[in-house]
Amino acid sequence: MITSSKSLKDIFFCPEESNFYSHCLETLVLNKCVNSESIIELGSGDGSPVINSLLRTNFNGIVHGFEMNPLSCEAAEAKIEEYGLSDKYIIHNKSFFDSSKPQADYLISNPPYLPALDNKIHQPLLHGGIDGITLTKQLLSLDYENALLMVSSYSNPEGLIDYTITKGYCIANFVITPLAFGYYSSEPKVKNRIEELRKNNMAFYSEHIYLLAGVLFTKQDKCKVNLSSELLKLITAL
Ligand SMILES: C[S@@+](CC[C@H](N)C(=O)[O-])C[C@H]1O[C@@H](n2cnc3c(N)ncnc32)[C@H](O)[C@@H]1O
Repeated sequence: MITSSKSLKDIFFCPEESNFYSHCLETLVLNKCVNSESIIELGSGDGSPVINSLLRTNFNGIVHGFEMNPLSCEAAEAKIEEYGLSDKYIIHNKSFFDSSKPQADYLISNPPYLPALDNKIHQPLLHGGIDGITLTKQLLSLDYENALLMVSSYSNPEGLIDYTITKGYCIANFVITPLAFGYYSSEPKVKNRIEELRKNNMAFYSEHIYLLAGVLFTKQDKCKVNLSSELLKLITAL
């Protein structure tokens, strides 16, 4: 049982973002799955994005979620049991990178993408390195055939897209939405870093709004279209 309000605050809480991730997962991945595909996830949070999309689709495979925060895992496991999804969504309370991972057709994540000079921020587990894309790049270096990742307009999107090309990916599909800066991204240390990135053309936002894209990266030999330039144009528009 989760007891103190301090502990509850430690669980990632941003319903607009989590709902958007869930929507992307449903439309770009789960609705396209026809066999019993396997999916691996970095950072399940309280589990609600995957749970909600599993409840809305007929996905017949299995999702292995890795989450470092034990309180988030506890919350996710309770919800999974409540909705009778224990055979479809399995949570591992471990760091994604330090674990042996099951084979998977898709890697999915709303990864930590807050840029800051170090991880001494309110929620260190949301730190994405100095330009916000360190973990996303690490994920794409693992060579999964398909990866659905959330990409922020204030976390060096151009640098990330360039990196994906060197790793042999193209952008097969994406969905994009405006979001208001929230509790985590408004922390002064993070906001200041975002402003610095903007001066170097590595962050794109208007006063209160940034863009978040759910991007389906696919290995180039399996790609029918490559939407990299379309995404880049939209995500750097603000
Ligand atoms: C942006 S939150 C997303 C949570 C959830 N997927 C959502 O969208 O609501 C990122 C999550 O990744 C977790 N995390 C960070 N680094 C991790 C790692 N190396 N292994 C597993 N989980 C990690 C954090 O604790 C956090 O819950």
